[in-house]
Amino acid sequence: MVAYIKVFYISIGFWLFLGVECYSGGSYHVLTIKTGGSVTIPCHYNETNPPQKKYWYSDIDKSKIYTNTSEENPSVIDHPDQSLFTVTMRNLQNNHTGDYSCVVETDGLSTITYDLHLRVQSAPDVSVVSSSVSGHEGGNVSVQCSYSSRYQNHPKQWCRYKDQRCYTVGRTDTSQNSSVQISDDGRSSFTVLMTGLRLSDSGWFFCSAREAMNPVQLTVEAEPDGVSVCHRTRDFSTSTRKIR
Ligand SMILES: *[C@@H]1O[C@H](CO)[C@@H](O)[C@H](O)[C@H]1NC(C)=O
Ligand SMILES: *[C@@H]1O[C@H](CO)[C@@H](O)[C@H](O)[C@H]1NC(C)=O
Ligand SMILES: *[C@@H]1O[C@H](CO)[C@@H](O)[C@H](O)[C@H]1NC(C)=O
Ligand SMILES: *[C@@H]1O[C@H](CO)[C@@H](O)[C@H](O)[C@H]1NC(C)=O
Ligand SMILES: *[C@@H]1O[C@H](CO)[C@@H](O)[C@H](O)[C@H]1NC(C)=O
Repeated sequence: MVAYIKVFYISIGFWLFLGVECYSGGSYHVLTIKTGGSVTIPCHYNETNPPQKKYWYSDIDKSKIYTNTSEENPSVIDHPDQSLFTVTMRNLQNNHTGDYSCVVETDGLSTITYDLHLRVQSAPDVSVVSSSVSGHEGGNVSVQCSYSSRYQNHPKQWCRYKDQRCYTVGRTDTSQNSSVQISDDGRSSFTVLMTGLRLSDSGWFFCSAREAMNPVQLTVEAEPDGVSVCHRTRDFSTSTRKIR
């Protein structure tokens, strides 16, 4: 029997840009997926110091699936070029509802980098019309997120996984960045419009209503004529728990 000792690590954030707000470390995420549906979840890891092993842990059956094993459902694929691995779960049923974690292992020490509760529902609390969107450098993309009626009066957000930077619906103060606009119909959905896309905007986001959320992958393609772009440096923050 393996005893897991959980130690909370402090969330570290470096704030380089205006227009952001962040979840406090250890926020509770509930991924809501329709019965029979699929989901892909990104698990980021340290790019300067990549872990030796990475795996997806299911608290339901205490199983570990390491990256790039032949397992197909869930499949756990490493993307070293993006410093993350993705977990794809298909044909989700009620018995898949439970807790899961992204875990990295270095020198025998396991660290949970992200954990979530998966909730399989006939009518998901939060869903996205498309979980993968793409746009061109300098262009716009919009993402539509739907929520169930019981979330009508809860805060809606659009957040980047990597650094947990969030934009909140209805915030009109100047701290919100005008390159991301969110409009909420107040009834069942909100739409996120990202304008003036940069290559560095590529990556994983999620939309949420209170704790219920759903991931979206954004791909920004370079202009074919090779217009030079100014890459902005990204702020980053992490919130990790160690287990051993
Ligand atoms: C990544 O690893 C480097 C080298 O060990 C460390 O200095 C840095 O703090 C780590 N970054 C994060 C975000 O944990
Ligand atoms: C895992 O698979 C992905 C996709 O096939 C590949 O890009 C990556 O290099 C593989 N990683 C390792 C460590 O083999
Ligand atoms: C869930 O139930 C299906 C049959 O409905 C079964 O094949 C599957 O193994 C179960 N999964 C888990 C995680 O218990
Ligand atoms: C992107 O959205 C902005 C603001 O709504 C708009 O002014 C602009 O024309 C749009 N650009 C494209 C390429 O659609
Ligand atoms: C919005 O963010 C972009 C990139 O982070 C930055 O270049 C721009 O100045 C910001 N705009 C405002 C109004 O904060």
